[in-house]
Amino acid sequence: MTDSGSRQVGRRRLLAIGALAGGAAVTGAAGAAVTAAAGEGTQRSMGRRRIPFDGLHQAGILAPNAAHGWFAAFDVRPGADTHRLRAMLQEWTAAARRLTAGVPSPGDDAMVTGYGPASLTVTVGFGASLLRRLGAPIPGALDPLPAFPRDAIDPARSDGDVGVLFTADDALVIAHALRTLTRLGNGAVRVRWQMTGFSTTGGVVAAPGATPRNLMGQLDGTGNPRPQDPGFAGQIFARDPAWMRGGSHLVFRRIRMLLDEWDRLPRHRQEQVVGRRKDTGAPLSGGTEHTALDLDKQNPDGGLAIPASAHVRQASAQANEGATILRKGFSYFDGHRPDGAPDAGLLFMAFQADPRNAFTRIQQRLSGADDLSRFLRHESSALFAVPGGCRPGRYLGQDLMEGL
Ligand code: HEM
Repeated sequence: MTDSGSRQVGRRRLLAIGALAGGAAVTGAAGAAVTAAAGEGTQRSMGRRRIPFDGLHQAGILAPNAAHGWFAAFDVRPGADTHRLRAMLQEWTAAARRLTAGVPSPGDDAMVTGYGPASLTVTVGFGASLLRRLGAPIPGALDPLPAFPRDAIDPARSDGDVGVLFTADDALVIAHALRTLTRLGNGAVRVRWQMTGFSTTGGVVAAPGATPRNLMGQLDGTGNPRPQDPGFAGQIFARDPAWMRGGSHLVFRRIRMLLDEWDRLPRHRQEQVVGRRKDTGAPLSGGTEHTALDLDKQNPDGGLAIPASAHVRQASAQANEGATILRKGFSYFDGHRPDGAPDAGLLFMAFQADPRNAFTRIQQRLSGADDLSRFLRHESSALFAVPGGCRPGRYLGQDLMEGL
């Protein structure tokens, strides 16, 4: 495929994802594609772009890549009862509807005066600990993730009763949304931990909708399943219990990259570790970025073109009995550790119908057989049930709260 051919694919994928996330997102994504070369006009329209809050699924799951992604986990305060939590979910939903539309709330602190919504999404999930507190049955899909070899999980920055993913093309817009929810939740919940990530800002790379790079320099996201793929909805969205219809399960992992060790590997070794070229993202079995992996392809010397322990082979659905996740990653760079190594890596997020036959199955394999794992440390972990999206007039988690 030619370069412009792969760009077309990239743009088509973006549009397809936008179409599922909601009508205006299509305008946004298409607008981004059309105006990306238009300089100043792009900057202005980027702020105005909005992704509808209401829909079958919460918008953050299928929204196109945003420049920033923050995650906050909250714990319920000791005295907060079900009644208070229900009120909070109602207030959060109303606030998220307004924030994502760029409409100030009554009593707003004017922090983002003059700013548009910048494609803000606010996606809320419930931890098993919240359901336990509410006395609701805990679905098997929320079984605690097992400990994996090499895990270095910090409990203080893991788990949580409620998790919220914020994505937008502007960090101040996210900070304001986080402050608004924190303020409204005060009395019912308090922040347990919070992390700040970034991706590529629209207009920075030449091709609109191009796959962003991570801090190891790889194109990251190429092999993600697409909404139009057969079986996508069944693999990514949950069907039960009833309050989870249209919902998904989110696995969050803060994965530190051992960048000093990684940088010492020559580029051709880095490519073998992943199984794709660093420049174009093409699989080592040949083609361009979006060419399917050919796991059987051999080099002239008889060795596998995509090595046996390459990340993409070990993570692929073929190697994991069909296990499929929708990945959403944001880089983080939180300064340097006392030994001088960067405290940097990936806020890794995976959406799936049921982690037991998706993330957990894949990670079990990766933590043993994947060459890339030698350069990674999983430092925090959380699992949330992300209920289905809202219809206008309803609030997030309403089916759960009304069933109590
Ligand atoms: C910092 C940690 C990680 C990095 C830097 C990383 C990087 C990559 C890269 C560069 C690719 C190839 C391009 C793409 O398809 O996106 C890839 C593919 C993939 N990764 Fe990772 N990854 C990481 C962690 C994980 C984890 C923890 C899982 C799941 C447990 C995972 C699952 C996958 C899957 C399913 C694919 C697609 C494989 C296919 O093409 O069939 N990755 N990853």
